[in-house]
Amino acid sequence: MPRGVRPLAADSIRGALLSSPATKPPARGVVRNYRRRATKNAPDCDDSEPKSRHATDREPLRIVTRLKNHLARLGPMAGRFEGKRGLVLGVANKRSIAWAIAKRLADEGARVAFTFQGERIESTVRELAASVSSPLITSCDVREEADCTRAVAEAVAALGGLDFVVHSVAFAAAEDLEGRFTDTPRERFWLALDISAYSLVAIARAAEPHLAETNGSIVTMTYLGGKRVVPHYNVMGVAKATLEASMRYLAWDLGTSGIRINAVSAGPVRTLAARSIAGFPTMEAIVNERAPLRRPIDAGDVAAASAYLLSDDARNITGTTLYVDSGYHAMGM
Ligand SMILES: NC(=O)c1ccc[n+]([C@@H]2O[C@H](COP(=O)([O-])OP(=O)(O)OC[C@H]3O[C@@H](n4cnc5c(N)ncnc54)[C@H](O)[C@@H]3O)[C@@H](O)[C@H]2O)c1
Repeated sequence: MPRGVRPLAADSIRGALLSSPATKPPARGVVRNYRRRATKNAPDCDDSEPKSRHATDREPLRIVTRLKNHLARLGPMAGRFEGKRGLVLGVANKRSIAWAIAKRLADEGARVAFTFQGERIESTVRELAASVSSPLITSCDVREEADCTRAVAEAVAALGGLDFVVHSVAFAAAEDLEGRFTDTPRERFWLALDISAYSLVAIARAAEPHLAETNGSIVTMTYLGGKRVVPHYNVMGVAKATLEASMRYLAWDLGTSGIRINAVSAGPVRTLAARSIAGFPTMEAIVNERAPLRRPIDAGDVAAASAYLLSDDARNITGTTLYVDSGYHAMGM
């Protein structure tokens, strides 16, 4: 615990706030979040002045002031997702971008349901999901329409509604992520587009009636290779271009129901999917050398941007692609 920080009992915080006419009581989760952060990484606060009788009388007011100061320092993040419920597709392991996003949303108060694809990763996803007290972990192969509708329905049932969906799913055969794009066989071309792009449409369609009730939001993951030629990215670049265009058309359709949808275009992050791209280390090295910020990004950066887009802070942002790549996309050379 940082010096000078004394953990506050939730009851004393709540009691103090309730007894202050100028202050509305915080949501339960705000207090819970506050306690978690206060004991972990709250900045120093001055609670060291000597206690007199007058000071004791002012104790509730001091607690309120300290709580307000802490929340102000924590910024708009505190409790941003309290009461929000979402479905996250695409966790394979702890390195997955989907996991970084889910963790970030859970840390900010969200309840999150998860899907996994394939028995091989089920136990890993279950373990990770348990660490954020997820009420649902269910299988979903996005190639199957029935899986998409069932997974969304199960999430709505388990969470009692739906405020957001994270789509962080992609696949192309490893042999199509090297060599010439020209040689991509027809069936593997469609496979990559089916899993990596059409799945967004299928999931959005299934989620639409539920997200419409909450003015909900969807975020998907893309890469610069959908806009420009990135050697080796090949068919996945075509899939990302399709994904981004689908996202924009979905934004138009879903906007009438108050639903927002956006994409995050991430720079290279070392994950399972990234490992299958030939020349991935070169992609990393080039970004580190030529991006305006000349530094790598990590899954946490993508999670922060995704959380922003899913939050009410982005209430008038839809149909957009937000680059989280140290500025690399802005370069001409
Ligand atoms: N890692 C990067 O550098 C990077 C950069 C930009 C964008 N992205 C995108 O981020 C997203 C997440 O990828 P990641 O890098 O976290 O890798 P990852 O391997 O951890 O995640 C990919 C996920 O897709 C899932 N998936 C594959 N086929 C599926 C299917 N048929 N049905 C359901 N799920 C299926 C996998 O199970 C896995 O969970 C992808 O869309 C990827 O293209 C990654």
